[in-house]
Amino acid sequence: MTEALAQAYPLHMATLRQRADAALEACGRDQLVIAAGHPITKHLDDQDYPFIVHPAFKQWLPLLDAPGSWIVYTPGKKPKLVFLQPQDFWHVVPESPTGYWVDHFDIEIIRKWPDARKHLPANPDRCAILGQPRDAVEDMIPNSPQPLVDSLDYHRAYKTPYELILMRQASVLGARGHRAAEAAFRAGESEFGIHMAYLHAISQIDAELPYASIVGLNEHGAVLHYTHFDRTPPEQSLSFLIDAGASSAGYASDITRSHAAPQAEEFQALIEAVDGVQQKLCAMVRANQDYRQMHLEAHHMLAGVLRDQGFIDMSPEAAVEEGVSSIFFPHGLGHSIGLQVHDVGGFLKNARGEKTAQPEGHPFLRQTRTLEPSMVCTIEPGLYFVDMLLAQLRERPQAKNVNWERVDRFRPYGGIRIEDDVACTEGEPENLTRDAFASLG
Ligand code: GLY
Ligand code: MN
Ligand code: MN
Repeated sequence: MTEALAQAYPLHMATLRQRADAALEACGRDQLVIAAGHPITKHLDDQDYPFIVHPAFKQWLPLLDAPGSWIVYTPGKKPKLVFLQPQDFWHVVPESPTGYWVDHFDIEIIRKWPDARKHLPANPDRCAILGQPRDAVEDMIPNSPQPLVDSLDYHRAYKTPYELILMRQASVLGARGHRAAEAAFRAGESEFGIHMAYLHAISQIDAELPYASIVGLNEHGAVLHYTHFDRTPPEQSLSFLIDAGASSAGYASDITRSHAAPQAEEFQALIEAVDGVQQKLCAMVRANQDYRQMHLEAHHMLAGVLRDQGFIDMSPEAAVEEGVSSIFFPHGLGHSIGLQVHDVGGFLKNARGEKTAQPEGHPFLRQTRTLEPSMVCTIEPGLYFVDMLLAQLRERPQAKNVNWERVDRFRPYGGIRIEDDVACTEGEPENLTRDAFASLG
């Protein structure tokens, strides 16, 4: 794996340099400076929140534990890493740089963070400086010029072969965790116990995950961002929704699976129908496919499932048109993924920062771009029985088209989401998630 990364890294660097050149031209600056950032200290405390490195920093090199470090890129020159390695006997300090990437940088090691200033460019006015204002060192104050940010964010959607290797790796880790989580569910563990089984299987702690895991038993599956973790199992675990990913060198996977207990056959049938829809949508991840259309198509397909399985008695077209499908599928079809689980640039039409809006009535869709080879997006349709939304539907004229008895019977199952990470290619889509599960045997 390391060999494959080492081989792919030079092209990755060449791509980043080209992108940086174009972005610097767009904002009329000469050098790109990226702050890794600093940990945030808790209010009135001497403890820090977990350090999260700037995504633009970790795209250049696989260093996640580098607070106070900087990258300087000058077109035509080898990039420089100003690496903070404090002498500190209280903490584990960042390890000395090693690995396939070090020869691609001129590395300056510093012991105190203000010492970075003398290794950064002389004139900050000529620099595009990425970071937060709090990362400033003397006059090197992050300015994040919008034309540069737009250009970098737009291009970030196109993953290099190096990035795809890391995302496949993150997917394999995630799939391993999901297998362990399903086993823990079937063994009757609590949500907390399932989460522990997941973390153990992937050997990552919460702070290393790309997002907070959602581990919901029974009706908790209806809470879209349920991150509570009950410590005791319910009397009967009928259903289980887990949305959990993993990180590989700072690249994310984002995977959701839904499971039914053996006695919940009717819910299993609904899971299988949603799975069928999900796989059809995954097959649509092809060059020139408008993602907005896919989202609308998902609504039509899911409305078809609701009708076929006896929850509603209206046509899928009417269910979508009249907002009934949105009651059961209230979120977007998915999003771009990579350095961040919800990667930036989902709405960008071009590198100049023009945006494409969501289709009317679909404010939660996070990506409106037309797909092209080397983009990676999630495909995550779902059907949920959310009390608050169902109560709204009961007040509307379409309430007469709903089989409320059946809906009520399904409330204890919570909901279903099935989510894969899919790469668009020149031909067939590459489903990173399904490939990862398959690789586990
Ligand atoms: N886990 C966050 C999401 O699926 O978007
Ligand atoms: Mn997602
Ligand atoms: Mn997810």
